Amino acid sequence: MRHDPLHQPIATAAAPGKFILHGEHAVVYGVPAIACPVDGVQATAQVFTKDTPGIVVDAVDLNAQIRTQTDLDHPLSLATNNLLTHLGISAPPGLTVKLQSTIPIAAGLGSGAAITTALISALAQALGHQLDAATISNLVFEIEKLFHGTPSGIDNTVVAYAQPVWFIRDKELTPLKTNIPFHILIADTGIASETVTAVAGVRQRFEANPAQYQAYFDAIADLSHKAKASIETGDPSALGPLFNENQRLLQQIGVSNAALDALVSAATQAGALGAKLSGGGLGGNMIALVTQDTIDTVTTALQQAGATRVIHTYVQ
Ligand code: PMV
Repeated sequence: MRHDPLHQPIATAAAPGKFILHGEHAVVYGVPAIACPVDGVQATAQVFTKDTPGIVVDAVDLNAQIRTQTDLDHPLSLATNNLLTHLGISAPPGLTVKLQSTIPIAAGLGSGAAITTALISALAQALGHQLDAATISNLVFEIEKLFHGTPSGIDNTVVAYAQPVWFIRDKELTPLKTNIPFHILIADTGIASETVTAVAGVRQRFEANPAQYQAYFDAIADLSHKAKASIETGDPSALGPLFNENQRLLQQIGVSNAALDALVSAATQAGALGAKLSGGGLGGNMIALVTQDTIDTVTTALQQAGATRVIHTYVQ
């Protein structure tokens, strides 16, 4: 926010980070996945008027000013221009969108989707339109597709809806009703990992051995269904063993690594009810299911095992 009291934003929006509870990778092959928002980290957008026409995105964290009418290939320009087309606006007024994010980048926490979501939703408001979550999600998905290969759409969906979701590729999404909230720790291996690389590796192995990989995906589908039932019936402790089983399957499909395995075992040894990698794998983050009583001990154990950052989130 600018310190000039006379220059207040005319619209603001925020979007959370996300993590995948179950179903990463298998979701690309049509298996249901569960993803949840992470409220402790978020992207925010504030829209200010400016005297000259055209929209400038001030990406504060990147120290970049993107002129959306001339920097046409920039993802944030594409997002802005797609929105203008969607709204039927050809000559936008003078606006500056100040974008900031506390979501770690390239860590599988949905930072790209959150930044685009905040941008689109604040800009739409500034232009006099209130878009629903489905429309925002679709607009964000167009940008995700351009920069992330063949994404399933799970990131834009959970981030735009900002609630736990039961997600099946190309199907109507179902918000997930959590009957009892649960605590999750998200720990970063510190190893940057490109989801697109991990997804391509799974694709290659799947094509080399379709029957085996289909069996892994079917087993993951079963875990997603069990986790959904456990969340909906209010028995989150039953989730723990499902995490552990999923981690074994993710190891078998080749997307875990030594750093992730070390954090997973540190968490379970320190009393987590279950732990698994989350997202693309080969680095990035893992998640641990904890209770109020074990948050601190498991956090310390994760830090001692090499986690570069531990985020606590409460899923409700
Ligand atoms: O790395 P993330 O959290 O963006 O995870 C992507 C999840 C995958 O299933 C691996 C890919 C996808 O597009 O769904």
